[in-house]
Amino acid sequence: MTGIPFDGIALGCDYNPEQWPRSVWREDVALMREAGVGFMTLGVFSWALLEPEPGRYDFGWFDEVLELLHEAGVAVDLATATAAPPPWLTSGHPEVLPVDAEGRTLFQGSRQSWCPSSPVFREHALRLVGEMARRYGSHPAVRLWHVSNELGCHITKCWCDVSAAAFRRWLTDRYGSIEKLNDAWGTAFWSQHYASFDEVLPPRITPTVPNPTHQLDFARFSTDELLGHYRAERDLLRELSPAVPVTTNLMVNARQPDEDYFRWAPEMDLIAQDHYLDGRLADPRAEQALASDLTRGVAGGAPWLLMESATSAVNWQPVNHAKRPGELLLDSLRYVARGADAVAFFQWRASKAGAEKFHSALVPHAGADSALFREVVGLGAALGKLGEVAGSRVRADVAVLFDYEAWWACDLGSHPSGELHYIDAVQRWHRAVTELGATVDVVHPSADLSGYRLVVVPTLYLCSDPAAAALAEYVRGGGHVLVTYFSGIVDENDHVRLGGYPGAFRELLGVRAEEFAPLRPGETVTLDDGSTAGLWTEVLTASDAEVLARYADGPLAGTPALTRRTVGAGGAWYLATRLDESATAALADRLTRDAGVARMDAPLPGVEVVRRGRYLFVLNRGDATAVVPARGTDLLTGARVDACVTVAPGGAAVVRKEV
Ligand code: GLA
Repeated sequence: MTGIPFDGIALGCDYNPEQWPRSVWREDVALMREAGVGFMTLGVFSWALLEPEPGRYDFGWFDEVLELLHEAGVAVDLATATAAPPPWLTSGHPEVLPVDAEGRTLFQGSRQSWCPSSPVFREHALRLVGEMARRYGSHPAVRLWHVSNELGCHITKCWCDVSAAAFRRWLTDRYGSIEKLNDAWGTAFWSQHYASFDEVLPPRITPTVPNPTHQLDFARFSTDELLGHYRAERDLLRELSPAVPVTTNLMVNARQPDEDYFRWAPEMDLIAQDHYLDGRLADPRAEQALASDLTRGVAGGAPWLLMESATSAVNWQPVNHAKRPGELLLDSLRYVARGADAVAFFQWRASKAGAEKFHSALVPHAGADSALFREVVGLGAALGKLGEVAGSRVRADVAVLFDYEAWWACDLGSHPSGELHYIDAVQRWHRAVTELGATVDVVHPSADLSGYRLVVVPTLYLCSDPAAAALAEYVRGGGHVLVTYFSGIVDENDHVRLGGYPGAFRELLGVRAEEFAPLRPGETVTLDDGSTAGLWTEVLTASDAEVLARYADGPLAGTPALTRRTVGAGGAWYLATRLDESATAALADRLTRDAGVARMDAPLPGVEVVRRGRYLFVLNRGDATAVVPARGTDLLTGARVDACVTVAPGGAAVVRKEV
């Protein structure tokens, strides 16, 4: 990974000047200076105006914008402009349009209406990329290339005939022979045996449950196809503009499982991430913390670039909440605390027309004379004081294992409970541990675990043999691990590991379940330590583990719910049920103390503490003043911190600790 090519912790944003007359551009640039903007993302949706008809380009207006920004000292993250094909392409070549699982074509009239496997789309896109790279590849303002935009935001998969052929090629590469595919997909079941690759289709709509491994491979194929598009643009950029790093803006969050970003990361020069608070969640900022820790995990621990977020409301949720005064700064610092080396937004000026006209921006409809723009200026000033934080790395004692493939497979249909969702377990455990003031990495099961004091494995339904072996090795080396229910059940082909659950971890944990016993929605059980649990139980025996808690009621009364196996200096805990929030918090408290994790001794509700290099971030979104032990200097105020930093409700501190 290369470093973020902007200065300090830069403030940035998407700039769409084509929506405004030239007279506004000059005012824009003056306001950008006032806000201390470091970079602008330019050209994301400019294709139709840059290439008004096939092969005829109009770069004049774009040159002007680039010059204006450059003169104002604003760096540019230059989009390749291929995110939204112009109407001449989709009407002249309707074969580029995507098709859904029911065979319906998705037409032009919004954006991203292209099939990831379309060679026709690829050819037109690459022609534009070539023009862009030749014209701007050595422009002094251009510091970063931004391929397309949020690849997979709307179209993650396509079921058209072109995609079907590409899928068959992908399967041929993966399996080599049709018999290997038949084995992997378990096609002896329901007369699905294939005689040749030519018979295979994408998993289009079927009379009943489609083959799960077929679906899993289609998910793998689909992320690879979009990644293939990224790679094609990147390769051309590298050839024509070798000095400028290349990225694309990912969507790492708890809503979008479709792209396996662990596959994408090695192809990117740096990790850029878009994140929006989701007002539909009970605690949107807990999800923000998880998404940020996972982004850092995708980046292999390196600093990353927050490419988009919102200054206030979005426009695409059922009800779009504006931020309260002060939240913009706190929300932005939450990303920085968790490894972001830039804070950027969609978009500079709120649109007057179009589908996103009610999405917040840096300059709202009310104009620069507004509370929001004044907050933006305040944010720019605050980020300006944090320049020295750039490049430093977050230091976590705890890892939460996370795998997109496990997410895909766990959430397929025909499982013991349709109420069990992979991401729920991940969110629950990430939140419980971070609320203690512990810093958490969210990493792939293949990551090096040796530096962690505690590893949490929430509902890792699909798990490879090497990942299971690495976890066992980690525990043998003195590590502490917690595995939760419905983990280690299947291999990469979604084939059940036989002999009892949780197959991959049975030996490590010293337990064995013969059956699952999921609960009805709203049904709960009590444990003999007073905890309440719901959703899921297992008919479990502890063959080689200490039983820490048993069910106190219900059909499984007296049988184990929580166990621990001691392995040398380490320990392997198994939780066979879904504890409610307070019991999850209590178990997280016990585990982190047992494992000697750095955390707050007496955590305060709503107070976040994150360790990033020498810097201690304290963000207080609670109702009470936070007093946190620290010694050094608060970069935001310049004040000396002698023994404790005091942070008022709604406030923040970034303490450079004395070494
Ligand atoms: C995404 C897109 C932007 C914009 C925002 C709105 O992040 O990349 O173009 O649509 O969503 O929240």
